[in-house]
Amino acid sequence: MKGIVLVKFNEFIEELWGEGFWDKLINEADLPSEGAYTTVVTYDDQELFMLIGLVAYKQNISVRDVQFAFGKWVFKEFYNIAPSGAHDFEDVFEFLHAVQDFIHVEVKKLNPNALVPEFKFLSETFNKLSFHYISPRKLCFFCEGIVHGLAEQMGQAVNVSQSECEHEGGQRCVLVVEKV
Ligand code: HEM
Repeated sequence: MKGIVLVKFNEFIEELWGEGFWDKLINEADLPSEGAYTTVVTYDDQELFMLIGLVAYKQNISVRDVQFAFGKWVFKEFYNIAPSGAHDFEDVFEFLHAVQDFIHVEVKKLNPNALVPEFKFLSETFNKLSFHYISPRKLCFFCEGIVHGLAEQMGQAVNVSQSECEHEGGQRCVLVVEKV
């Protein structure tokens, strides 16, 4: 996972529960990096998964909720570092296509070791769009949260659900975004 994600996770957790809580997490997690994250390094995915699991346990919330809340929070941070051209979109559906066709492509060009998910668009009407989220990291709840953050940025209200989810016995994860 790119360092930017872990640096932002650190900021997110400190914003919610303070620096002391973050320090405790890092102590208990006993990670190879010792939690001294910087944006220029790529870390083992397990570090993020471990920290998310520990936050969920300590705060007595689900892993799903931690992923979702972090995704929603982190979108504005991704938006700030997005390649030029990414700021021209004013609509959630257009933006989601742009992520697959151009934004994540640029991210990958700039950081060849970045691992970005693939979106396969399945159906779209004026108010409802569905896509297959494909990633070995299986962060579909994080993805749901990001879509909410995106909608907030675009000034649109949406419902996001999954018609199929690998974590709930499905063969794949299909996100359904509905403008409301
Ligand atoms: C604002 C523009 C965006 C930028 C600059 C951006 C950039 C990035 C970066 C740098 C990563 C980390 C890659 C790695 O650690 O190897 C990432 C991961 C990810 N992005 Fe984006 N992103 C953007 C928008 C979005 C949107 C709108 C979505 C959701 C629909 C999304 C979904 C994800 C997910 C789910 C991951 C986690 C990795 C995975 O699932 O395998 N991103 N993105």
